Amino acid sequence: MTNVSFDHHSTEYARDWRRINADLRERCPVAHTDAHGGYWVVSRYADVAEVVRDDETFSSYHELPDGSHNGATIPVGPMRQVPIEMDPPEFFEYRKLLTGYFSPAEAKKWEPFVREATTYCIDSIIESGRSDVILDIASPVPAIFTMALLGLPLDGWRVFSDVTHSIIHSTPGTDENNAALANLLTILGQVNEVIAQRRAEPADDLLSHLVHARINGEPLSDERLIEIITLVIFGGVDTTGSLIGNALEWLYRNPEQRDLLRTDPESIPKAVEEFLRYFSPIAGLGRTATRSCTVGGEKIDAGERVFVSWSSANFDPEVFDDPDEMILDRFPNKHQSFGLGIHRCLGSHFARSEARIVLEEVLRRMPDYVVTAAEPYPSIAVVNGFIGLQVTFTPGSPVGSELKL
Ligand code: HEM
Repeated sequence: MTNVSFDHHSTEYARDWRRINADLRERCPVAHTDAHGGYWVVSRYADVAEVVRDDETFSSYHELPDGSHNGATIPVGPMRQVPIEMDPPEFFEYRKLLTGYFSPAEAKKWEPFVREATTYCIDSIIESGRSDVILDIASPVPAIFTMALLGLPLDGWRVFSDVTHSIIHSTPGTDENNAALANLLTILGQVNEVIAQRRAEPADDLLSHLVHARINGEPLSDERLIEIITLVIFGGVDTTGSLIGNALEWLYRNPEQRDLLRTDPESIPKAVEEFLRYFSPIAGLGRTATRSCTVGGEKIDAGERVFVSWSSANFDPEVFDDPDEMILDRFPNKHQSFGLGIHRCLGSHFARSEARIVLEEVLRRMPDYVVTAAEPYPSIAVVNGFIGLQVTFTPGSPVGSELKL
């Protein structure tokens, strides 16, 4: 067994993850660390794919008291999320409930709404010539969209956006994290109120669909509903916001490429794929071995935890030419940022269109933005993003949005 000093929660990893991943890929592509009770780190593209495609051997199931299962994060998260922390056959019943609401056609249908939300957010800062683009645009657009998708009243978007952002990057035990957790409870209270309303009177939204759904003839419990809804919220808001924030920060430092995307918006979709690869908003996730097996020549025992590193797979030179280069029109670009196998991201079509629309609008309306301060997350264990990204730009005029929030 190759033991390494590795912790995907550490600040060192947040600052230097591409180099640390490259070192692991070359020296010990399946390595063991003692951090967080011990886990294996799988860092080559082919090995990551092998692990996540074998969902019988590598379970995502949330914590079981006998320690045989420990969920999709290392260490196990405080709240179960569904369906990401379920295994087949139960998993398929829940995934099936959701797929129709997350299809490419649905993403297309939501595009005008996402554009309105983006217009609303840019309008609110355009006259001032300054913004924290994370707090004003990159987090709010996915937040407003997610609220609309679920069917939550949009007037609470500011708290919703700030809480989903803050909870991801703030350190447990700090005042900021305590405040975010308290606000999250308030938001979940509102979600419960809307659940009760939709039970009585269905509307055309995801919450109505879920409260009236049946699994094996039974309606979903309130607890199960919350497990699904929190996944849609935490899987969809700060991940997409971080993708947008990273893209904006990189484009500021690469003005020629920024001009290229501004003058040719058709090239933005391919660039979004490359931003997904290059920033890997979710660096990696966890599995638990259900039986003894071998990965990359290393023996993994039943019950051991495994960290599948999407961010490392995305830089594997076996698959990507010049992996350390940002190549905005890279094609093909088979990055693993949305995962692989049965749990592959349900929201990928939404994330792609949100990122594309926000980039189009920011480059069109704030083309000369200058980043004056950037504060990256101290840890990228959950999401790789910026706490804040201050910019200045030539002021403009609001154009008006149909969204009145
Ligand atoms: C850039 C943005 C995003 C990234 C990088 C991302 C990444 C991922 C990854 C890596 C997985 C696979 C998890 C695993 O294998 O254990 C996943 C699953 C999932 N994502 Fe995303 N995601 C993003 C956006 C979204 C959005 C916008 C939504 C919803 C609106 C969403 C909802 C989900 C759900 C529900 C699952 C669980 C699927 C399942 O277990 O079958 N994600 N995501």
